[in-house]
Amino acid sequence: MTLLITNANQLITLASASKKARTGKEMTELNIIENGSLLIEEDRIVAVGTKEELQEQHPELMEKAEILDATGSVVMPGLVDAHTHLVFGGTRENEFQMRLNGATYMEIMNAGGGIHATTKKTRESSFDHLYEKTYAHLNDFLRHGITTVEAKSGYGLDWETEEKQLQVAKKLQENHTIDVVRTFMGAHAVPAEYKENPDAFVDLIVNEMIPKVAELGLAEFNDVFCEKGVFTPEQSRRILLAGKEHGLIPKIHADEIEPYEGAELAAEVGAISAEHLLVASDKGIQAMAQAGTVAVLLPGTAFFLKAASARGRLMVDEGVPVAISTDFNPGSSPTISLPFIMNLACMNMGMTMEEVLTATTINASYAINRGNEIGSLESGKKADVLILNVENYQQLQYFYGMNHTKTVVKNGKVVVD
Ligand code: NIG
Ligand code: FE
Repeated sequence: MTLLITNANQLITLASASKKARTGKEMTELNIIENGSLLIEEDRIVAVGTKEELQEQHPELMEKAEILDATGSVVMPGLVDAHTHLVFGGTRENEFQMRLNGATYMEIMNAGGGIHATTKKTRESSFDHLYEKTYAHLNDFLRHGITTVEAKSGYGLDWETEEKQLQVAKKLQENHTIDVVRTFMGAHAVPAEYKENPDAFVDLIVNEMIPKVAELGLAEFNDVFCEKGVFTPEQSRRILLAGKEHGLIPKIHADEIEPYEGAELAAEVGAISAEHLLVASDKGIQAMAQAGTVAVLLPGTAFFLKAASARGRLMVDEGVPVAISTDFNPGSSPTISLPFIMNLACMNMGMTMEEVLTATTINASYAINRGNEIGSLESGKKADVLILNVENYQQLQYFYGMNHTKTVVKNGKVVVD
């Protein structure tokens, strides 16, 4: 099928000669075509430009193209959510009330709630139940313009359930319109069974789970919650290096609640990304800039935990490539609304509207090793495209808390209209 999206008020291409995640000033360069058009053949972008330019370059394709009129609208790449805990059993609204009454996230977790509560529910849930529940969440993501989602395991903390979560994500990748990219996160918490001997749980992850994940091709990435009272930097290093040996790319939940030199560790082990970073140190930020580690910032989590956000402004200024994601999970960020999270990045992290668009498209795609495939509207890339009900991109953040998604094109097909 050939598709032509025409007459966009602004066609935000995010195209660039740079073939890596954008840093510094590059994050403000949206590369906008006014009155722009975009030509798609099958699942790929053929060309972007004005209608006249496309007519000249591709007269035959233009002749047979089906037309999608984007007059008065903004057209941009599909949003990429580079950090979610997508597959989980149950919900935790009871803990939300406890936190509103003054309990902290860590207090609830240490008392057997938090990740442990969701682990219990996820262990009890059947494969089919998890699949149906997650399918519905993905529908919601898609309606909000998200076309690729990263999904972490980590609510099993035993092999059987970790595998179940990853298999659910795999089947969703096969059957749902959204692309689902898998991360193994067996090191999300120390389960009750290992409370007295956490190193034995690390042994289990390193010696048994990671090799099986790799052998079965269940994930591309390996993540760990490096946090005081969860996994130490030493344990985290061991887990990430073991994953690397088996071809799993390191990611890390770093410096979320207390400073723990997680950002430094991310740079040291060559992690593709470090995530959260609410309390990352100056030194850690500089190390990440040096190493080119993508900072995946999650201002929705800070909002929902009533914590101060990560220092996004400083990170951009220091040359760290920044991405922004939802952290969708049942405890610290139960939302699929990446558009709302983008607004929080402007409000609470001092990022500009341009930087925020870069952070949720091209930089997010680099955080999940998809920078060559998605995240910008360029010839040869996957045709994941949004038509938005706004006149200019600034209105996306200005009219906040709303869903501006009008049409979603995924792999060259209209999937939301
Ligand atoms: O990214 N920090 C650890 N993990 C999640 C929360 C998981 C949960 O509370 O269920 C996060 O915030
Ligand atoms: Fe997370």
